[in-house]
Amino acid sequence: MRDIEQFRARRARLLAKMTAGGGGVAVIPTAAEMARNRDSQFPYRFDSYFYYLTGFCEPEAVLVMLAGDAPRSILFCRTKDVEREIWDGYRYGPEAACEAFGMDEALAIGELDAHLPALLANQPSLHYSMGYDRHWDQRIAAALNAARANTRNGVTAPHSIQDVRAELDEMRLIKDASEIATMRRAAAISSEAHRRAMQSSRPGRFEYEIDAELGYVFRRSGSQAPAYSSIVASGPNACVLHYVENDRRMEDGDLLLIDAGCELDGYASDITRTFPVNGRFSGAQRDVYQLVLSAQAAAQALTGPGQRWNAGHDAAVRVLAQGMLDLGLLEGTLDGVIESGAYRQFYMHRTGHWLGLDVHDAGEYKLAGDWRMLEPGMVLTIEPGCYIRPADKVPEAFWNIGIRIEDDALVTAEGCELITAAAPKQIDEIENLMRAHADAAS
Ligand code: GLY
Ligand code: MN
Ligand code: MN
Repeated sequence: MRDIEQFRARRARLLAKMTAGGGGVAVIPTAAEMARNRDSQFPYRFDSYFYYLTGFCEPEAVLVMLAGDAPRSILFCRTKDVEREIWDGYRYGPEAACEAFGMDEALAIGELDAHLPALLANQPSLHYSMGYDRHWDQRIAAALNAARANTRNGVTAPHSIQDVRAELDEMRLIKDASEIATMRRAAAISSEAHRRAMQSSRPGRFEYEIDAELGYVFRRSGSQAPAYSSIVASGPNACVLHYVENDRRMEDGDLLLIDAGCELDGYASDITRTFPVNGRFSGAQRDVYQLVLSAQAAAQALTGPGQRWNAGHDAAVRVLAQGMLDLGLLEGTLDGVIESGAYRQFYMHRTGHWLGLDVHDAGEYKLAGDWRMLEPGMVLTIEPGCYIRPADKVPEAFWNIGIRIEDDALVTAEGCELITAAAPKQIDEIENLMRAHADAAS
């Protein structure tokens, strides 16, 4: 059961921020349904900002919030419809939604366009995500023009439009207790899915079989969907950063890189583990794996309050670049390969991102030109990697070694906590788990 008070409290915070900024009206639509092909829709996913403020999951809904002396939240949503509910299932309707979601008022979505000009009238500013969706932009522009058309009757239309996402992004960046609880549960489900993937992998199986094992644990555990397309990448595919075909037969000697996490009640988890399909790391695989693990530990050590966002990335790059020199993948000096960016041949992405309702979550990474300081309640990933292709002209033992190790970190008062730590990542842990399963199966 969703805690309606959490959503009400977030609306109150946004209204207070708007009031402090001079008042105004916010219009926050949810996402549209999308056709996949004839008579078939993509699975519906609400808009993250709308959901953050409402907890309401139905399509065709808009939240309107009025700041000032008498703050109000109005939900526009679909009306009850016996015929449609026979085909598509339950819908709240305005009356039940108003009560269940703690709104001040709820109205039929079909009445929105008629109400909007009056809701915008005499408001100093409109808080809206202009430019995000051109259909909504047109609808909002029409409502603004309708409000302006009334000026000879003494009505004023908003003089400014502010991006409501800027305020909400800062709120979303610091997770509250209920968000952290949900993210912990999502992380636990995904960790279990990665354990099952390790236990299920062996030469001769196909990547999609492992994809199915992940999806099985996600759904069996109550998650609604994967938070993003699962990457199940064996052999050369491990070096393709956004590989999603997941259709190759896995071979003896391959590494398998799995980047997969479930979405639970709107919140993403995001884990990558890499392990040998046959259950035992080769010498070169072991060397590169240990290097990436050390880079992750270096980044984790600099993830905590008082550290800047970029400190973890810089630390990971230093460890990786030194390892690339030690393994003979690069030539030169540590400072030289960092300064020239030569290390990017094997490590071409950054070490993390915010995590929350979106897998690449809301929130600025820099403030006034400087990398921002980490604060308790922020959640981010720590995900260094190293990807070595035959085209890199290095000894053959390194070819097709693609490794990423990714955990989800909650910034705490003391440092950070990896909420995905239950997914094994030490070499002996992985080998023991895979061996135990192979023994049990034989
Ligand atoms: N799975 C998306 C990412 O790691 O950023
Ligand atoms: Mn990630
Ligand atoms: Mn990932």
